[in-house]
Amino acid sequence: MIPSMTSSHRVLRTMTAYVDSDDHRQHLHCHPASLAPAHVFAITSGKGGVGKTNVVANLAAALTLARKRIMVMDADLGLANLDLFLGVTPQYTLADFFAGTKPLADIITSGRLGIALLPAASGVQEMTALSDAQKISFLTELDALAYDVDLMLVDTGSGISDTVTYFAAAAQQIVVVVTPEPSSLTDAYALVKVLASTHQEKHFWILANNVESEREARCLYDTLSRTTLRFLNTSLDLLGWIPRDRELMRAVARCQMVVTTSPACPAARAFVTIAQRLIQLAAEETKVKGSLQFFFRRILAAAGRQR
Ligand SMILES: Nc1ncnc2c1ncn2[C@@H]1O[C@H](COP(=O)(O)OP(=O)(O)OP(=O)(O)O)[C@@H](O)[C@H]1O
Ligand SMILES: [Mg+2]
Repeated sequence: MIPSMTSSHRVLRTMTAYVDSDDHRQHLHCHPASLAPAHVFAITSGKGGVGKTNVVANLAAALTLARKRIMVMDADLGLANLDLFLGVTPQYTLADFFAGTKPLADIITSGRLGIALLPAASGVQEMTALSDAQKISFLTELDALAYDVDLMLVDTGSGISDTVTYFAAAAQQIVVVVTPEPSSLTDAYALVKVLASTHQEKHFWILANNVESEREARCLYDTLSRTTLRFLNTSLDLLGWIPRDRELMRAVARCQMVVTTSPACPAARAFVTIAQRLIQLAAEETKVKGSLQFFFRRILAAAGRQR
């Protein structure tokens, strides 16, 4: 669907208005609205504290530096802190949209590097209880946004709650972050099981974080992959791995993204490699199925199933 000129322009204008430096303005103006809508990746995990928010913020930074237009959505109800990494304090969230007081374009805010943030935190709770009219207006406004960004990353929070599985299932690609802790693997298995059985998901990407080496990453992936294939008939692929890196912890302590604070460190380089992979996947997938529109259709379908 081609968005109406007015809604598309309004969104672009809002995003531009928030951008706080000339560089960012130039960045946006160098990237006219694309013909294809954005591709959506959900970044999720079974266990909390495995690095999802860092993954979303750093991949968004790496993708932006690769001249892609990125929107991130903070769908973590428990600890919505993506805004801290992006250096912004959102004035509104999706709750304001669903309360009917703000258009979606007014909720989106622009953070570091001009990354667009959709702060869903206090609004997603209501996602499962929305009226059809609310769902349609959400779909319509997001559909318009889709042409102003290339990729969208969703920080879903962790666990097997309805909200986490709802956003994970709605995305085109599900990325499950795991670490070497045994409970991270067992909780990842539980999440994959729920998504496979309740949402008929058949494929997942594994992102091994906080590992010592590629060997450790492959070992984690092999263990999980063998188990899910055998018991859930579900296939996993290794998206990549991020080493344990003090520079990342240092960046976190300053609420920064390691990709920008220490671009030469091993974790930052790993994020850049994974970002390139996402660009490649998005290009391949867009040929096969619709992009952001697909995400929203699936959101509606998921809402319908949970009612
Ligand atoms: N590659 C890494 N190297 C070193 N430390 C890391 C790495 N990845 C994550 N961490 C540490 O893990 C902490 C938790 O990361 P983060 O907040 O991104 O996890 P999360 O999965 O979003 O957590 P939550 O489930 O609470 O939202 C970070 O503050 C950082 O100290
Ligand atoms: Mg988090």
